[in-house]
Amino acid sequence: MPARILDGTALAAEIRATIKQQVEHLKAACGITPGLATVLVGDDPASHAYVRSKRKACTEVGMESFAHELPATATQEEVVALVTRLNADPRVHGVLVQLPLPHGLDAEGVLGAVSLDKDVDGFHPLNIGRLCMKGREPLFVPCTPLGVIVLLEKAGAPLRGARAVVIGRSNIVGLPVAMLLLHRDCTVTICHSRTENLPAVCRSADILVAAVGRAEMVRGDWVKPGAFVIDVGINRVADATRQTGYRLVGDVAFDEVKEVAAALTPVPGGVGPMTIAMLLHNTLEAAKRYASRGGSAP
Ligand code: GUN
Repeated sequence: MPARILDGTALAAEIRATIKQQVEHLKAACGITPGLATVLVGDDPASHAYVRSKRKACTEVGMESFAHELPATATQEEVVALVTRLNADPRVHGVLVQLPLPHGLDAEGVLGAVSLDKDVDGFHPLNIGRLCMKGREPLFVPCTPLGVIVLLEKAGAPLRGARAVVIGRSNIVGLPVAMLLLHRDCTVTICHSRTENLPAVCRSADILVAAVGRAEMVRGDWVKPGAFVIDVGINRVADATRQTGYRLVGDVAFDEVKEVAAALTPVPGGVGPMTIAMLLHNTLEAAKRYASRGGSAP
């Protein structure tokens, strides 16, 4: 039986609709409109596109978004000064620094300057540290990893005691998603470019998360029959039949894997929309916490 396709677009739309209602409620109850500030340094076209989508999603649920752009030549001090200003701005409940930052900037220093209360990306070193420790809770969980977990839980994937394999060890996805799976009692293996016999390791997985950035790397015979497969990759491959000259594919060979897995996310339309829904979720949460601390509308 072909895999169940886990529709991230539909699930994200449901989540956004709930968030929209809660934003209206917060506005009516305390006059507070949740606000997200985006910080974009340099001119990477993909980063510009991601930030545009995030800002549009804010507007659609009734949140404010404040765009800040700096040139690629900005110094560490200039970026940190901007973040510090946003930390102090009462209209801003979440501060998002789009990654990667241009070479020469110290990302850890910039992310560490974001107020813990406004760290809606969950990338502050203290939040990441807490995520990686047993019995500690970060204030916010990174958006893509959280979206992966919500997709799995909504699909009814049995996580406790399951063997989970994560391909990729990035700070943005691989590492944090592995930690979230561990906290849900999976037995987790993290694979990377030096992993030996990667196909065999993947075949041991009940839960397989591909976040490696290599087009269609995970083949049908890498997957255990009945596994839940989450594809985080977004890769462009040349396609002369498209007007753009390319199409988007994931890290998973979709047509092969759908014949083997129990459930599979598509690309596009799987994890991508969930990332944005989780960012809205975290921003709303930041604004609610601000209100419950007695914060008022500016
Ligand atoms: N770059 C790629 N993914 C992300 C993300 O989730 N947040 C930020 N800030 N930058 C990214």
